[in-house]
Amino acid sequence: MQGGGVVDVGRACGYIAGMTDPQTQDAPILERLPILIAPNPVLKARARVVQDSDGDVVRAIVPRMLAAMYDAPGIGLAAPQVGLSLRLFVVDIQKEGAREPMVLVNPEIMGLSKEMALREEGCLSLPGQYADVSRPAQVRVRYLDQAGVRQEIAADGLLATCLQHELDHLDGILFVDHLSALKRNILMRKLAKEQRLKAAG
Ligand code: NI
Repeated sequence: MQGGGVVDVGRACGYIAGMTDPQTQDAPILERLPILIAPNPVLKARARVVQDSDGDVVRAIVPRMLAAMYDAPGIGLAAPQVGLSLRLFVVDIQKEGAREPMVLVNPEIMGLSKEMALREEGCLSLPGQYADVSRPAQVRVRYLDQAGVRQEIAADGLLATCLQHELDHLDGILFVDHLSALKRNILMRKLAKEQRLKAAG
């Protein structure tokens, strides 16, 4: 998982309605993977554990998720955000502009610091919305990488925030769920209004 050449368009993945072109089942589908916008029931659902039998789906979706994340641009994207309710996400905080994508399958939190950190968060599923969220400053996460090898990472700073934000997505939790109901409602109403305006052109 070196930077750079990881992004290539994988085979079509029939998991997402409308993604597979029935005329060219095996041809690469070049359209960008659509990212679900809140509110959407898939974003609120608890995703299921990735199993060995999901291998083909994971191999097909990961390059497309990375492409969608970089294209957005974003620093993290969870499978539920592209309509796939599996415990899988990609992150790349692109420190100093260098790409270093990480793929985390079945991630689990092994430890959280008592120390908290406040950081402004946004989300590709809540475009244009930002708020300060308080989370543990350090986190330790165990996961399987794209090759199925068990890995463990200790993170702080932006990566710690990003890992917790993406892990939340796998449990149907959005960053706005960490805010007061008042703040959350304001952001969700603003998002709905902006999406209506966008749809109206
Ligand atoms: Ni997000």
